[in-house]
Amino acid sequence: MKVTVIGAGNVGATCANVLAQREIANQVVLLDIKEGTAEGKALDIWQTAPILNYDSRSVGVTNKYEDTADSEVVVITSGLPRKPGMSRDDLISINAGIVKSVTENVIKYSPNAIIIVVSNPLDVMTYAAYLTAKVDSKKVFGMAGILDTARYRAFLAEELNVSPKDIQALLMGGHGDTMVPLPRYTTVAGIPVTELITKEKLDPIIERTKNGGGELVKLMGTSAWYAPGAAAAQMVEAIVKDQRRVFPVCSLLNGEYGLDNIYLGVPVILGKNGIERIIEVDLNDEEKKLLNESAVAVKGVMKVLDDMNII
Ligand code: NAI
Ligand code: 2OP
Repeated sequence: MKVTVIGAGNVGATCANVLAQREIANQVVLLDIKEGTAEGKALDIWQTAPILNYDSRSVGVTNKYEDTADSEVVVITSGLPRKPGMSRDDLISINAGIVKSVTENVIKYSPNAIIIVVSNPLDVMTYAAYLTAKVDSKKVFGMAGILDTARYRAFLAEELNVSPKDIQALLMGGHGDTMVPLPRYTTVAGIPVTELITKEKLDPIIERTKNGGGELVKLMGTSAWYAPGAAAAQMVEAIVKDQRRVFPVCSLLNGEYGLDNIYLGVPVILGKNGIERIIEVDLNDEEKKLLNESAVAVKGVMKVLDDMNII
């Protein structure tokens, strides 16, 4: 089974590497617009196979969509990453054009593919891919929630000095400063986190999570890739193995949570058909308010895209 990753930069190459190393797909195609980049990175990943003992085959191509034909899943990471001082929303004009042309090519050669968008600003680039692909929204969605939740879980694991494996958490909303981590739906091996940590300690962790992407941009001068690449690969795995994992995924809402025609992070069941079901959890008034504020922020960026009239 074939999985394609568009964009062989930091996130795309990391995602392809995880897909190959964990044998999530037996054929991984990496595509980039920059001559030689995808070919070189795919060759490097393939040459790791004898050392790390896997047999997934990676191949790289420069803009040759024919070689991506009949992919089961396509991960779109092409686009500019955030630079210091740049918000995710600053990226919109450049990345919308890239996502549009990439999605057209993906659908041309893999009309049945499930598309996972990673490019920023995430919620709106996912919407752009959906508008371009003209397929069921259950097959076009975005990666952000697994990453944001992973950051939240890692910070909590550090504070509580426990394994991150035992921390289960839910986070909703847009992939930006308005994201909504939900302490009421955060547990440590089933124990509500609020029983193990004071509000004074939890609040700064929530703030750090919301700014988790920016913290890394400040440190590295570009945005993160290890966790984002692994998060996208985890979504691919849930689909190709029909695992029915429950993840926060940037999904098109049509009435769920009282919101319409907006891509926003919500918990879903992910399986062979893509989004098998959107799960509607009960939110209290404060949580609903935060989710609505996040939706307003995302709608603002959607309007920027709509006003550009490029899709
Ligand atoms: P990068 O600059 O390392 O890689 C981007 C790659 O896309 C480059 O190799 C570039 O040549 C390629 N590219 C540009 N236009 C293309 C086109 N038309 N067709 C094919 N390839 C094209 O950037 P990085 O760090 O990999 O980030 C990629 C995107 O993912 C950025 O928009 C970034 O903001 C976003 N991101 C999203 C996250 C999320 O949680 N959703 C997390 C981390 C990054
Ligand atoms: C991140 O959260 C910038 O979206 C990117 O790391």
